[in-house]
Amino acid sequence: MSYLFGVDYYPEHWPKERWATDAAMMREMGISIVRMAEFSWAKWEPREGEFHFEDLDEAIEVLAREGIDCILGTPSAAPPAWIIRQDPEIEPMDARGLRRHFGGRHHDCQSNPVYRAHIRRFVTAFAAHYAKNPHVVGFQVDNELGNSHADLCYCPSCTARFQQWLKEKYGGIDALNRCWGTAFWSQQYDDFSQIDAPRQTASGYNPSQMLDWKCFCSDLVCDFHKWQADILRAAAPDKFITHNLMGFTEKVSYYDLGKQLDFASHDQYPGGHFRPRLDVPIADTLASELDFIRSLKNKPFWIMEQQSGITGWDTLGRTPRPGQIALWATQCIAHGADTVCFFRWRSCTFGTEQYWHGILPHNGEPGRYYREIKDFMHQTAPVLAELQGAMPKNEAGILFSYRQEYAIDIQPHHPQLRYLDHMKTYYSSLYRRNIGADFLPEDADFSPYRVLIAPLQFLMTKALSDKLHAYVEAGGTLVLDMRAGIKDEHDLAFDEGPLPGMLADLVGARLTEYDCLREMDGLVHWDGKEYPCHLWSDIMDLTTGEAVAVYDKAV
Ligand code: GLA
Ligand code: ZN
Repeated sequence: MSYLFGVDYYPEHWPKERWATDAAMMREMGISIVRMAEFSWAKWEPREGEFHFEDLDEAIEVLAREGIDCILGTPSAAPPAWIIRQDPEIEPMDARGLRRHFGGRHHDCQSNPVYRAHIRRFVTAFAAHYAKNPHVVGFQVDNELGNSHADLCYCPSCTARFQQWLKEKYGGIDALNRCWGTAFWSQQYDDFSQIDAPRQTASGYNPSQMLDWKCFCSDLVCDFHKWQADILRAAAPDKFITHNLMGFTEKVSYYDLGKQLDFASHDQYPGGHFRPRLDVPIADTLASELDFIRSLKNKPFWIMEQQSGITGWDTLGRTPRPGQIALWATQCIAHGADTVCFFRWRSCTFGTEQYWHGILPHNGEPGRYYREIKDFMHQTAPVLAELQGAMPKNEAGILFSYRQEYAIDIQPHHPQLRYLDHMKTYYSSLYRRNIGADFLPEDADFSPYRVLIAPLQFLMTKALSDKLHAYVEAGGTLVLDMRAGIKDEHDLAFDEGPLPGMLADLVGARLTEYDCLREMDGLVHWDGKEYPCHLWSDIMDLTTGEAVAVYDKAV
């Protein structure tokens, strides 16, 4: 079973009389798969335990008549009003202790047992109903997990779960006190029940606690996904499960989430209204996201949502230039997408996303986007069919770690330092030289790569240090940089020996001082040329190393 092109479709937004026309137009374009259903819980279950899948069945049937299959999303990103009125504790709580209310989406707490009971009832019925439908080929759990919760949830249910997570991690409260350095500011705990989710404080945060909180939130999202995926797989074992991921979003580890998927999918909005500067070229940023999604499972992936027009909620992005949608989709294919689904079929006439334009405009009459995307599909289909399953063999690897990202974002050192931006600086320099790269987690096999770039290896463990040593001993070229080897896995600074600690022998130098370059740039001489240096400078004594570049006085 392979699909080249698809679309995200919401038949429930349109009169039934229109469905056959839509399906026929989709087929003419070259579409053979649609994703549906992921936000319409209130329609499929208007009252508790009363399921109405008739309309969805009919839509699936209409599409099937044109040879189009579908993926169904579970609708847990938008629990209906009747559930929220009945069980308001489901609404998530922000870091100030305020509930986020009904009226948008993702107004749910993913740990809440009452909410999970509602989901179990719905998803069990949903999966059972579609288990034997041959036109339903796969499922998507929820939607863009990790998106939309401004700061995830700090409610009593999540707090209790965080305490449990900590108990499992540390065993006893003394170990936690040690690993969080609670001697500072009188933060020691007598019992796990005293620990809060890190809600808004009067001043400052404990970095070790924040690091655990971020890892806990990621684990909670993965647990939420797995728990739903298990229900789906038990009832409908021959359907695939994928998820629409969002590049380098940070709230959930895609390495962990990816393990639960049959294949990864990605949502691609190159000209999204959240990227207002169209004059700034972002081809490298887009490419890095695609390479990351491919790297998750080391196999081709799908685009589940590809921008197909102007994007916008309250404010709008720019209109894609002629040919630009095809360009974006082609870039996805070039980086390993086997299937490209466009978001969405037709621009909705109501709701928050009225201005998030689809292939068709509000009036349903084919226009430029339709013609361009149709031409693109017809021209690309033969090539894409040939490329199915093809994978690049890259010689450069970039070590990308959520834990390092969390730790640096908790303490960015320099106000302008962002882990992702820093990592992308390396990616961009490879990209400009046409050198393909894979992204690797800490537990990956580094040996196939000639070069391993390991930016900001702030938190160092013996296991990671051993792997890096083994990689270099086997002849690999390792790139390390600032703040490597500074802290342990609990975000506590090492208290022995010269920096960069366990990595000192690899670097062949000892750091004697460091300087955060605030409101200024430094200067570096390398190979007869001068370069500016930003954000940070490490001052070191060489042991076995050799200097290839040296600082000069600052400008
Ligand atoms: C995301 C979501 C879609 C839709 C689009 C447009 O990518 O997955 O459901 O909301 O954004 O906002
Ligand atoms: Zn919660």
